[in-house]
Amino acid sequence: MAKPKVVLGVSGGIAAYKACELLRRLTEGGHEVRVVPTASALHFVGEATWSALSGQPAATEVWADVHEVPHVRIGQSADLVVVAPATADLLAKAAHGLADDLLTNTLLTARCPVVFAPAMHTEMWEHPATQANVATLRGRGAIVIEPAVGRLTGVDTGKGRLPEPDEIFEVCRRVLARGPERSGPDLAGRRLVVSAGGTREPLDPVRYLGNRSSGLQGYALARTAVARGAQVTLIAANTALPDPAGADVVRVQTAVQLREAVLKAAADADAVVMAAAVADFRPATYASGKIKKEEGKEPEPVALVRNPDILAEISADRPRPGQLVVGFAAETDDVLANGRKKLARKGCDLLVVNEVGERKAFGSAENEAVVLGADGSEHPVPYGPKEALADTVWDLVGERLA
Ligand code: CTP
Repeated sequence: MAKPKVVLGVSGGIAAYKACELLRRLTEGGHEVRVVPTASALHFVGEATWSALSGQPAATEVWADVHEVPHVRIGQSADLVVVAPATADLLAKAAHGLADDLLTNTLLTARCPVVFAPAMHTEMWEHPATQANVATLRGRGAIVIEPAVGRLTGVDTGKGRLPEPDEIFEVCRRVLARGPERSGPDLAGRRLVVSAGGTREPLDPVRYLGNRSSGLQGYALARTAVARGAQVTLIAANTALPDPAGADVVRVQTAVQLREAVLKAAADADAVVMAAAVADFRPATYASGKIKKEEGKEPEPVALVRNPDILAEISADRPRPGQLVVGFAAETDDVLANGRKKLARKGCDLLVVNEVGERKAFGSAENEAVVLGADGSEHPVPYGPKEALADTVWDLVGERLA
């Protein structure tokens, strides 16, 4: 099979150096990459670097190789265009259809999916002009990844950082994997909340009750939703995974903190997906000092109290009217019958029922499940990557929201 053709547009921001890493990931991942840096991008990273890393000349000029009509051909023949970093200036030009250099020409001739990964200072990102340009681009079907929060150029910190190259690569990979017919941002304009990981309920400053959830399924849901154009808040309980590009990540530890974060984010969300493994109980008391063993004495039993059931609570009292709520359940026996009972008990719209086994669910990259609907529907998802299950969940959510 021919390698997918990716155009990597680079505009002039300090994060241009991170695009070298993205380029590496793309070429190592089997993509043919043509780099189109703007004139200002070349102030940050020179042409030689782009050419050497991509294995072909960087396309920098409308006026070079004119017989090949580069200002039209590069965009026309691409399977994906990704602009990283996308500066405020580049977004403005793209939103208004300007075509004063090779990259902006390429954006006008591309008929494939286009992903922008903006990077700039917080003030520039938040400026109404930039926000209007982003909304215009999204409205036209482009995927504009929300910048990450963190250290910016100099001593500033805030929103505006380029997400990690590996994670931008993940977005590109997913957009390409969905194929030309399904690559459109079908969840554009949707605000989605996903909880992931497993809660930890502290006993004392060094010990907790926890579970084996890795967070992989919740992260796959968040990544997939970003690649389909949604705005995603990921509530992550004790995960050790890199932040998905474009998702707002809120970190929590306990079930009580998770509840608070979910309720806050759910207030303006179209759908909430509870993929986190929430501890049903927590220790009744918390010892502020480490619990010590005493010679010749048996340990005190640990008394537990119930945690709030977040899924049942938001299903019964939706933080936003018309909101869709999705739960997860892990079962070992009578999977479907138990799943149906749980769906009714929790009151959610969809319940993803996993059969827990050796290779499945916890910590594994694969999963097999059945998605049960409160409307009586049943969608089996064969054993496969967690992102395939994530896509099915979003297909079903999208259908119900439409
Ligand atoms: N959940 C929740 N709040 C809790 C417990 C669970 O929101 N206190 C959510 C989980 O995020 C998940 C679903 O409810 O979406 C799982 O339900 P749960 O009753 O915990 O089912 P199981 O984990 O399958 O456990 P059990 O069979 O013991 O009920």
